[in-house]
Amino acid sequence: MSRPDLPDNQEKGDSAGTWSEDRIPVVDLDVLVNGDAAQRSEAIRHLGRACEEWGFFMVINHGVPASLQGATMDACKEMFCLPAEENAEYMNPTLMAPISLGTSLNSAYWRNYVKGNVTEYATRTRGLMLALTAAISESMGLDDGRIAEALNLEDCFQLVVWNQYPPAGPEVGLPPHTDHGLLALLFQTGVDGLQVQKNGRWILAKPIPNSYFVIAGDQLEIVSNGRYKAALHRAMVHGEQARMSSVCLLGPCLDTVVQPIPELALQGVEFRGIKYREYIAHQRTKTVNENAAVVVAR
Ligand code: SIN
Ligand code: FE2
Repeated sequence: MSRPDLPDNQEKGDSAGTWSEDRIPVVDLDVLVNGDAAQRSEAIRHLGRACEEWGFFMVINHGVPASLQGATMDACKEMFCLPAEENAEYMNPTLMAPISLGTSLNSAYWRNYVKGNVTEYATRTRGLMLALTAAISESMGLDDGRIAEALNLEDCFQLVVWNQYPPAGPEVGLPPHTDHGLLALLFQTGVDGLQVQKNGRWILAKPIPNSYFVIAGDQLEIVSNGRYKAALHRAMVHGEQARMSSVCLLGPCLDTVVQPIPELALQGVEFRGIKYREYIAHQRTKTVNENAAVVVAR
């Protein structure tokens, strides 16, 4: 597959495999899956560095059809447009609600959201996140199934969230946070606003067309014993245009105890084991993460 032109704040890495401070790494799934041995090992090394230095990258040639992305976004716009009396029945964010609407439009933050699951889209994005998980496992010198085995991902949980940021309001739509899951995929509709922190600086994430942003979450930091860090990110309000983003989050099932993979903790364990369910409950008590995703179990 061909490689799209890159906006000026990203690159795949120069011939020495490096990127400048502000250039968000780009990972080509097609090479990871179908490349020859040399191409794959270069791509795996590049992915490992992206996880180690950023916890954040773009994935291209990922195989999720643009038409499917567009259709889920359109369905979600309809939810946002429901009259108040109709959407009231979804404004009840219980832990297991299959679909819920919520809002945090207030003096500090500026976001509406829909949380739920859309079968085909969820299946395709789950396949993509599991393929990335396998490659990430390899990038740490492990068998490609090792993370999936450690987290029992055959029985994983997945959440899809759509965010809508009205044009003008407080500067910050969603405050700085890390995601509680293993990995998240994010795409947006034309208007930028996602920022990721790198070496203490906020960097605006400008996507390549048809790419996803991939965000490493807290469970990846834990299983990797801190080798791969969860990315601190936030969403800014544009000021003149409304913005929409869609986030798919993959994690272990809620009763899985997450702990560092022993092979990665030979020099000492950095995290104690904790049930994913308890981790989320703990995280939701932190005010910085008050808008973090509510869980929908599969
Ligand atoms: C964004 O809308 O760009 C960020 C959403 C999130 O972190 O969940
Ligand atoms: Fe997030």
